[in-house]
Amino acid sequence: MALAGLYVADALHRLGSASAPFVYASFVGSLDGRIALQDGEANHLPVEITSENDFRLFLELQAQADCLVTHGGYLRDLAAGRLDDVLQIGTRAVDRDLVRWRLENGLSAQPAIVIASASLDFPIPASVIRKKQRVLIATGRQAPQDRVDAFCARGYPVIIAGDGASVEGAPLVRELGTLGFRSVYLLTGPRMLSTMLRDGMLSRLYLTIAHRVVGGESFHTMATGPRLEAAGRLRLSSLYYDSAAPDGAGQWFARFEPLRPA
Ligand SMILES: NC(=O)c1ccc[n+]([C@@H]2O[C@H](COP(=O)([O-])OP(=O)(O)OC[C@H]3O[C@@H](n4cnc5c(N)ncnc54)[C@H](OP(=O)(O)O)[C@@H]3O)[C@@H](O)[C@H]2O)c1
Repeated sequence: MALAGLYVADALHRLGSASAPFVYASFVGSLDGRIALQDGEANHLPVEITSENDFRLFLELQAQADCLVTHGGYLRDLAAGRLDDVLQIGTRAVDRDLVRWRLENGLSAQPAIVIASASLDFPIPASVIRKKQRVLIATGRQAPQDRVDAFCARGYPVIIAGDGASVEGAPLVRELGTLGFRSVYLLTGPRMLSTMLRDGMLSRLYLTIAHRVVGGESFHTMATGPRLEAAGRLRLSSLYYDSAAPDGAGQWFARFEPLRPA
């Protein structure tokens, strides 16, 4: 198979509806389950599990989204220069074609950005303002009211999705469907994946497994919080083998769908 076009062929933008937006997530991990390493306060993606091939597929997933869900932690890291900006499509040579693909497929030039945060303590990135992307904020009912008011006053709608401080999967997805979003890409981490699985809201998981054992003392895996029990059952729906990247070791591109309770 040619790598370019592999994931846009899934046409995720056509799979959702107002009552059931198509919610998908992706991760890249190592054979020993690491998605990030922790050095003191700082987290980073282990460079040995990254590759241009995986990045291209990530951009193809992004291209199919009505909205990207990101979070406060990412925006703080972005502002501090610790992470790259991945909130726009078509800003690099490798994804120029995907801008045209979006327009040909009836999607807006850039996806909307939904920012999940309990603290509501993050800056709106300059790139998002420059590209005039639609921005919404999602939080829980216990969020600091002065910060909710401040975002509303600046014209950013705040979705209350959950009774605690954190965003819960079901109320968030319900609200995004009501707002007209059909394909929702979670550019988030273990907490959001866990809440979406727990609430039965995840439609599909794309997982790249680099054939490397990374090791390291402190690390993150894909999930966090209490055991997921039955909500963590997934069925493989496709698997591709890339024998070259990363760094000659090889990797799998796997696609999973959660198993709904019988
Ligand atoms: N390899 C991969 O594919 C991959 C994918 C994703 C992440 N990662 C890495 O894994 C590490 C951990 O991920 P992470 O930073 O995303 O950790 P996380 O613990 O999942 O999320 C951290 C932040 O996201 C916000 N957040 C997440 N879920 C939320 C919810 N349900 N409600 C409200 N706010 C929520 C919070 O923001 P506030 O503090 O503003 O409240 C929190 O600080 C990072 O190094 C990350 O880069 C790797």
